[in-house]
Amino acid sequence: MSIDMTVDRPVSTIDPFSHGFLGDPYPHHEAMREAGPVVWLEPYGIWAMARHQEVRDALTDWETYCSGAGVGLSDFRKEPPWRPPSIILEADPPLHTRTRAVLTRILSPAAINVLRETFAREADALIDRLVEQREFDGVADLAEAYPLKVFPDAVGISEQGRENLMPYGTMVFNSFGPRNDLFDKAMANAGPVREWIMSKCSRAALAPDGLGIKIFHAVDAGELSEDEAGMLVRSFLSAGIDTTVYGLGNALYCFASNPEQWTVLRENPNLVRGSFEEVLRFESPVQTFFRTTTKPVDVGGVRIGDGEKVLLFLAAANRDPRRWERPDTFDVRRRAAGHMTFGTGIHGCVGQAVARLESEAIFGALAKRVVSFELTGQPERRLNNTLRGFDTLPLRIKAA
Ligand code: HEM
Repeated sequence: MSIDMTVDRPVSTIDPFSHGFLGDPYPHHEAMREAGPVVWLEPYGIWAMARHQEVRDALTDWETYCSGAGVGLSDFRKEPPWRPPSIILEADPPLHTRTRAVLTRILSPAAINVLRETFAREADALIDRLVEQREFDGVADLAEAYPLKVFPDAVGISEQGRENLMPYGTMVFNSFGPRNDLFDKAMANAGPVREWIMSKCSRAALAPDGLGIKIFHAVDAGELSEDEAGMLVRSFLSAGIDTTVYGLGNALYCFASNPEQWTVLRENPNLVRGSFEEVLRFESPVQTFFRTTTKPVDVGGVRIGDGEKVLLFLAAANRDPRRWERPDTFDVRRRAAGHMTFGTGIHGCVGQAVARLESEAIFGALAKRVVSFELTGQPERRLNNTLRGFDTLPLRIKAA
């Protein structure tokens, strides 16, 4: 990747949504980090930040870097969004403060802890079956199968039609990029998928004891309108599936390609929790999010104007040598807290306790039962404008 340093700001002609970039982003991340605290991406006329410090600073300064104009490439103030904007992710205070308070309460670690037993039981049952099977696809049979069971169960969504959940997430996360081939492909069957999703967001469609109906209890308490509650259920269904699917798949890949790290984990089961943070740092399932400036701002001597789009490379921040020692090494003993994969600041992932609980249940069960993983074929990537992960992950496991 060539970066022109002869002008008043580093300028790159790279397309961060091209197949080449998405397939192997790391050399490009390094080039952007080394070019400076902020880089101008010529093809889209946007700014990019790839260093830990600047990504973190932008995420924590919502008054300068807003979300209300969209957290993708598209500027909602200039073009109509493909769906009604999220009232939490794509919102700024004061609306965000109100909606966020409700979800923070419903998804707090303490509230989520009541799911622990169910999540563990489902994980044990699934891992028992896979140990029996010995060879399986780490994506379809595990990374997708598990969240697609436990998460909609927890939200209180009917069994019928759950095959729409992944395609919807694929639409949402591709839509944060440009209208390229990945976006077009994801949108091919958009109508029926969206219809199904919206039909699951009403009070009447939700089970009486799930996380979804709890959002409607906030309507009864006067905190939200009925429509807003439906929109927040939609947020669960947009953000809660693909993210964890890609995260669990990436974890399997990390352990299959670093078998000595699996041995360390098995010998130290107390590392199960922390090792997922290292997976998130090392192979971030969520690679990027955008912000839009609300006023001119100076970043490392470069002036960014008002109303400009800024692409934040969470995954590049996670391997910034200014922040991490041996950033390109996967090390389950590392203290990976401080990675940017869940974002940070007022929009920092509100569902992170759910993601952590899923990973703990799955990798806790695997650590008990599985001595080693082995790839039996070439894993295939599933390219996405925002997410990084796999389409297939052919695995063989050796049982304890
Ligand atoms: C490994 C799994 C996950 C990752 C990597 C992830 C990542 C993220 C990131 C980076 C953000 C911040 C976006 C921004 O700053 O613009 C975010 C926000 C959000 N996440 Fe997650 N997420 C995960 C799982 C989940 C789950 C399971 C749920 C639902 C239970 C969820 C619901 C949300 C919601 C509703 C927001 C918006 C919060 C706000 O704007 O205040 N996420 N997530």
